[in-house]
Amino acid sequence: MENRKLILSFETSCDETSIAVIENGDTILSNIVATQIDSHQRFGGVVPEVASRHHIEQITHCLNEALETAKVDYNDLSAVAVTYGPGLVGSLLIGVTAAKAVAFAHDLPLVPINHMAGHIYAARFVDQFKYPQMALLVSGGHTEIVYIESEYDFKVLGETRDDAAGEAYDKIGRVLGVNYPAGKTIDEWAHEGHDTFNFPRAMEKDDNYDFSFSGLKSSFINTVHNAEQREEKLDTKDLAASFQQSVIDVLASKTERALADYPVKQLVLAGGVAANQGLRDRIEKDLNQKFSNVQLLMAPLKLCGDNAAMIGAAGQVAFDHKKRTDMSLNAVPGLSF
Ligand code: KG4
Ligand code: ZN
Repeated sequence: MENRKLILSFETSCDETSIAVIENGDTILSNIVATQIDSHQRFGGVVPEVASRHHIEQITHCLNEALETAKVDYNDLSAVAVTYGPGLVGSLLIGVTAAKAVAFAHDLPLVPINHMAGHIYAARFVDQFKYPQMALLVSGGHTEIVYIESEYDFKVLGETRDDAAGEAYDKIGRVLGVNYPAGKTIDEWAHEGHDTFNFPRAMEKDDNYDFSFSGLKSSFINTVHNAEQREEKLDTKDLAASFQQSVIDVLASKTERALADYPVKQLVLAGGVAANQGLRDRIEKDLNQKFSNVQLLMAPLKLCGDNAAMIGAAGQVAFDHKKRTDMSLNAVPGLSF
């Protein structure tokens, strides 16, 4: 057991309480995820106060279950890793406090992890990382293109100037009466419809790597409301397909632009929206056709959403890079790379 490196990791940045045990940075011994979706659904989005309360209720159960499932004890651990931002301050604080308590009580090193770095490392369970590397990170809170020249060295090339892609999915989903989070259902509907509305593709041709989804969202909502006023029934599947095509077109074209300007060995696709089948298919096709020397690493479907396994994988690498923090660690809601 000598060379067995075990990281206990905590993720509570939004509405999942998750704790994992990761062996040698690439093997999941346990990954407990307690989701709160049911509690937030009736509000149409995450209510921060409700989220914090759930984390408090769940965290000890998740911790015990993570250790039991992995069949390990605190004495077996090499370090504790925790998400300290970006995210909801109250939610983050529960994970940070729990991780600090474990690290202090068992005299373990404490490793601070950026949630977005964690998302990238969900793809580490697919294959080893090679550099330079690019990542397209698409989630409910973020949409960004990150260039990683060498291990654990992140540079944001571009990001959304307003809504994140997942946020846009959830907002238009609400207009169509889809429960939060709406991404998966809209994705399914999109596959049954056609792009007949031709919504705007904001910033698609701009000479940068940034995104904007609020214009698309407004255009979608106006289209639906205008039809309602005229008592006209629009095809929901076509609306979903048109919205999704617009999102995918801009994500894919900005990623292509970045890949052309910054040659890399791998492209990582990660974050909650990376579960989108239309996006996965499109990026795969683009890479095959135009960047056949770039290896595509798509986060496994089960690890696209928030989870502690990805934090543990990032945690091992950060630990090897001697990243450490102490009991003064605080949550940083607006943390960037
Ligand atoms: O990464 P994540 O779990 O949480 C954040 O860190 O934000 O992402 C959640 C987001 C939600 O907005 C959800 O609607 C979206 O991911 N999502 C999807 C799909 N599955 C989840 N969006 C598009 N297509 C999907 N299949
Ligand atoms: Zn996330």
